[in-house]
Amino acid sequence: MQAHPKTYKKLIAKQFGEDFRSAVEIVEVPLEQPTADRILIKNKFAGINSGFDTLLCRGKVPYVNLTPPFDLGVEAVGEVIAVGADVRDVRVGDAVVTTARGGGYREYQVIDAKLAIKVRQATPEVLTLMPTGISALVALERVGEMKTNEVVLVTAAAGGTGHIAVQLAKLAGNHVIGTCGSEKKAELLKKLGCDRIINYRTENLDRVLKSEYPHGINLVFDCVGKQVFDAAVENLSIRGRLVVVGFISEYGKSAEEIAQPRLYHQLFWKAASVRGFLMPHYQEYAAEARDRLLNLFYSSKLQVAIDPTQFNGIESIPTAVKYLLDGQNCGKVVVRF
Ligand SMILES: NC(=O)c1ccc[n+]([C@@H]2O[C@H](COP(=O)([O-])OP(=O)(O)OC[C@H]3O[C@@H](n4cnc5c(N)ncnc54)[C@H](OP(=O)(O)O)[C@@H]3O)[C@@H](O)[C@H]2O)c1
Repeated sequence: MQAHPKTYKKLIAKQFGEDFRSAVEIVEVPLEQPTADRILIKNKFAGINSGFDTLLCRGKVPYVNLTPPFDLGVEAVGEVIAVGADVRDVRVGDAVVTTARGGGYREYQVIDAKLAIKVRQATPEVLTLMPTGISALVALERVGEMKTNEVVLVTAAAGGTGHIAVQLAKLAGNHVIGTCGSEKKAELLKKLGCDRIINYRTENLDRVLKSEYPHGINLVFDCVGKQVFDAAVENLSIRGRLVVVGFISEYGKSAEEIAQPRLYHQLFWKAASVRGFLMPHYQEYAAEARDRLLNLFYSSKLQVAIDPTQFNGIESIPTAVKYLLDGQNCGKVVVRF
């Protein structure tokens, strides 16, 4: 049997802090053995969710009630290295994905076997599907009521969440517009089949939408917020739907205060709507979405993009969080252990 270390490293929030780096600390803890229906996993890759991580470390995620110290990170893929006596469906050597809060930014984790999803290989690609891709699919279909032959706008389209949303909207038979902030990201969007790519650093989003889409946008998947949100609301079609998936432009700063007429003035005359989306409130759709995404991925109908920058080890996580929050990434950011 393979010898396992006696201790391992994980990243915790030691205190609340304005930015992620100032709130976190690496700690070394004993490696626990799994009992009963639990399994021990050696994490190989974890997904970086800078928005959530930063807000969590500020104590600004209303549905999470944690007081430091607490564990960090969400999705991880790894290998099962020990199982409890009552575990039947999972074996040592299986590759599994976990999405439990606190299970990501650590070298090992012990978890209930039922919470581990078996995958073919412990590769980072599956982390673009769970939970990121699941959120994209559920937000588009359940909240955005995605149809076919409509105009769909995806913002931060070359990011971890956005690049999956772009492809799902294309697979559903829509005309897809994607925004991004660099030529490298535009290249990725071209490969994914995006119909109109708007690099917001070289073109004005509002002007492009007004001149090229005079009938408006039917469905917006907005990850960015601020002026991008304003332009998207302004250009909604009759009965258009805008899904607030996130507002990453404000995560690193305090909320911007603006004075303008209330939102219903813009929505009412077009019978348009703005809808919030938060995956924890749509958990009943997660399993079906996950199975569909895995099928699309394994049958090569869905391409996944992992940002090529290598982040290695627990020590690299604060840098990876900042990298994403600074908008530098192309595809999903992962850290390898
Ligand atoms: N509601 C939910 O349940 C849920 C679940 C998952 C994710 N999300 C949200 O989805 C969004 C994307 O998350 P992700 O983890 O997949 O990140 P990501 O899209 O991989 O990375 C963020 C991207 O946002 C873009 N961006 C645009 N304006 C920005 C600004 N002012 N500052 C920083 N970045 C800016 C950057 O690309 P460009 O500059 O190229 O646009 C950047 O690469 C976030 O808002 C996140 O909170 C929500």
